Amino acid sequence: MGVRRSEFAVEVRELSRDYISTRRNHLIGKKTTTIVKALDHISFEIQEGELFGLLGPNGAGKTTTVKILCTLLEPTGGHAFVKGYDVVKEAKHVRKIVNMVAGGERMLYYRLTGRENLTYFADLYDVPRKEVASRVNRLLELVGLSERADDEVEKYSKGMKQRLQICRGLINEPEVLFLDEPTLGLDVSIAKDIRKFIQEKIVKEQGKTVLLTTHYMYEAEEMCDRVGFLNNGELVAVGHSEELKRKMPLGFSIELLVTRLSNETLEGLKHLECVKKAITTDYEGETEDEKIDRLVINVESDKAVPKVLDYMSNKHCRVVAVNLRGPTLEDLFMFYAGET
Ligand SMILES: Nc1ncnc2c1ncn2[C@@H]1O[C@H](COP(=O)(O)OP(=O)(O)OP(=O)(O)O)[C@@H](O)[C@H]1O
Ligand SMILES: [Mg+2]
Repeated sequence: MGVRRSEFAVEVRELSRDYISTRRNHLIGKKTTTIVKALDHISFEIQEGELFGLLGPNGAGKTTTVKILCTLLEPTGGHAFVKGYDVVKEAKHVRKIVNMVAGGERMLYYRLTGRENLTYFADLYDVPRKEVASRVNRLLELVGLSERADDEVEKYSKGMKQRLQICRGLINEPEVLFLDEPTLGLDVSIAKDIRKFIQEKIVKEQGKTVLLTTHYMYEAEEMCDRVGFLNNGELVAVGHSEELKRKMPLGFSIELLVTRLSNETLEGLKHLECVKKAITTDYEGETEDEKIDRLVINVESDKAVPKVLDYMSNKHCRVVAVNLRGPTLEDLFMFYAGET
């Protein structure tokens, strides 16, 4: 067993992974080899008991990171530690204290029942024999599958299979749990239950550390304290989501419904110091006999609101409605997905 050399639950240092992919050119029959830099020297850490979100577009490197941290894939450079154990040199130990749940319907035996699946995985993890039955029952109860425990998995719905996957991911009572798109393709209410379960039971009650990847920004918004954005194998931002939002240029937008807007007023608005961008869009609707325009104005902070309203009033525009929108994780995603 190794010496603890990390105060973090997960520590990633300059981690890289190249894939070599060989393709045959059908016209000339020649093979070409290309190197894909799936991860390019990424570094981040996750605190004990934290729910960390790893976000980024398709092919950004999220699954590659998760696979390396679970010891399913070796890095080509750099280091990673889980609870202080090196994922390469101490892989055997890491394997005992982690587990992974991916979205989709893999990693289950369809001809076996839910209970048989979990018992099989418990054996693989050397769960003490006398504990297996009670642990399996407890997990099935936790995800509401007790009544269907003795049906074959092939008879389960997609959501039931996914709930069983979560049980499988918890069977070895992992200290760090990796969730790679755990609610992929689930209906709104099951996905909500699973999110609640992860937050309340796994993180709050049991104090486990979770790394979550997801394409649903509201999911990351609701669940994660800190997030990292990967793009093209590079970690382009990492931090508390509220902090990242505050730092985002053009983060706030003011939506105004106004009447009596002239081109001159619009041009003047664009030249205000606090305004970064202003566009008008068509608005279906009129007030009394006046035409309404919808204005979307990008500003650096919410302090711009009174300035913009004063300006509109000086120009004799009538403001019918005001809506201020702060930056969301989706805005951050769009911003960072465009980087590198
Ligand atoms: N086995 C492989 N062989 C070659 N290239 C691979 C392999 N697995 C992944 N890649 C490439 O590595 C890069 C990162 O892939 P990865 O699966 O980690 O992305 P991801 O962020 O999980 O994407 P998604 O959101 O689509 O799941 C992509 O360019 C992908 O094509
Ligand atoms: Mg992936």
